Amino acid sequence: MAIQWYPGHMNKAKKAIAERIKSVDMVIEVLDARLPASSANPLLAKLAADKPKLKILNKQDLADPERTVLWLTDYRAQPHTNVLALDASEKQAASKIIAACRSLVPNRHGLDRPLRVLICGIPNVGKSTLINGMLGKRSAKTGNEPGITKAEQRLILADDFWLYDTPGMLWPKIIVEEAGYNLAASGAVGRNALDEETVALELLDYLRRHYLSLLQLRYQADLSESPHWRDDNWLEWIGKKRGALLSGGRIDYQKAAERVLTDFRDGLIGRITLETPNQWAVWLKKGQMQ
Ligand code: G4P
Repeated sequence: MAIQWYPGHMNKAKKAIAERIKSVDMVIEVLDARLPASSANPLLAKLAADKPKLKILNKQDLADPERTVLWLTDYRAQPHTNVLALDASEKQAASKIIAACRSLVPNRHGLDRPLRVLICGIPNVGKSTLINGMLGKRSAKTGNEPGITKAEQRLILADDFWLYDTPGMLWPKIIVEEAGYNLAASGAVGRNALDEETVALELLDYLRRHYLSLLQLRYQADLSESPHWRDDNWLEWIGKKRGALLSGGRIDYQKAAERVLTDFRDGLIGRITLETPNQWAVWLKKGQMQ
């Protein structure tokens, strides 16, 4: 899929992250609970290999709860890693994050040894919402300080808790083809960068295989016929159902695709996760062999 998703400014973000990682105690990686592995930045895994990590599966309210449990179990098995599933709007989100950070790096405490945390996440994963929750009514102290680049912000959450925020960053090359589609479906990649019809067809193909009953319910499809439909049959049906029509009653496939993607992003099809740890392992192997 031709996705031009690595705009030039992301190089700056990458440099800022690479530089800052050296001086922090730990890293928070915000992931999208609907696509945890696809939304994880492989560059970060390399850059922060030796740092304690808190992985946050954000937007858990939109994700399939059973699959979230699978991901939590998978991540908990990784060394020096803590993991939380959250909905950024929940009241306790901020205090859970702060407590999880303190437990990962227990020895830093006090004004002379503030806990220094770098927070990263791809665009649209909910990082700003989480940070605003952590700041609460406190105003963010940012910018023009020695040692703080333009591409980052230092936020003082408490006298002994400093958070470094960097711009959302994607990575230059996708190894796993499915990750490209999942990121596009989630809205992490700018709209101009992708062919929405292709992305919607890939999404429908996954949903018909793994979440058929949710599709049938959302789009009131015939229960005996629709199990035999392919992705294009689904797109056509949804076009009809959702009034995505051109003159003469022909289907407007572009509009139908936009509707499916918006429905998915807004959680209107149901709570869906586009990958499991096992599926990811298979995709990764395939990607590495290509
Ligand atoms: P970013 O900094 O990582 O780029 O993401 P940001 O916080 O701007 O969040 C991107 C979108 O995701 C926002 O919606 C935000 O409200 C939504 N969001 C963040 N966390 C969660 C979550 O845990 N659950 C759900 N359901 N949504 C979440 P938006 O439509 O772009 O803006 P708005 O609706 O807030 O106006």
